Amino acid sequence: MRLKKIVIAIDGYSACGKSSTAKQVAKILGYKYIDTGAMYRAVTLYFLDHYISLTNPKEVSKALDDIKIQFHLNAEKQSETFLNGLNVEKEIRKMRISDNVSQVSTLKQVREAMVAQQRKMGKEKGVVMDGRDIGTVVFPDAELKVFMTADMNIRAYRRQQELLANDKLVDLEEVIENLIMRDRIDTTRAESPLKKADDAHEIDTSFITLEEQVEEVVRLAISRMVSE
Ligand code: DC
Repeated sequence: MRLKKIVIAIDGYSACGKSSTAKQVAKILGYKYIDTGAMYRAVTLYFLDHYISLTNPKEVSKALDDIKIQFHLNAEKQSETFLNGLNVEKEIRKMRISDNVSQVSTLKQVREAMVAQQRKMGKEKGVVMDGRDIGTVVFPDAELKVFMTADMNIRAYRRQQELLANDKLVDLEEVIENLIMRDRIDTTRAESPLKKADDAHEIDTSFITLEEQVEEVVRLAISRMVSE
């Protein structure tokens, strides 16, 4: 039986397990994994380091022209983010980026540039892409759309553990504040706000394991690969 290559769009709030799930699903299916949040984070890193004024469209446009984002697999076959040839995977996960990325991703120019790149990256299908607007804007015709949610305290705890794994101890309250702020900006922005696509399959990850999340997405994906 020949399985058709599909696009798998995984959207949802920050720290609900989208990336961990998407990575494993991609590995199991032999698909490419594209972390679109990492792309907005890399843009944010560039903007901060080059003191780009978010209210100056010319500066923003020039900066976007100068930014090249790529993903490369490391020795452990994990995808890492490169900004203009430099590995920024660790840097873009820091709180200074988390505190500014939602603001940067409200900009229409930034979104247009990122969406164009994401469409190019997924044009051949066989891709798992996670983000906020993949099923609604980037690939509205994706064969499988998943929308992930989770309880706020659980999300904050998971994000805190992730930061800890990078040797950064952040107070749980601070993590919660950052998540609440990002949820608010992500869901209320004028350009492609975060919302569940009507035809997305919702998964609440609060009380299920990563393996269970992965299994469910793989099961759904295979059913689409066979029937589409
Ligand atoms: O998934 P993440 O936490 O790494 O995403 C970082 C930020 O990027 C998030 O606060 C909103 C923004 N983002 C977006 O606006 N659209 C996407 N497709 C992905 C992320």
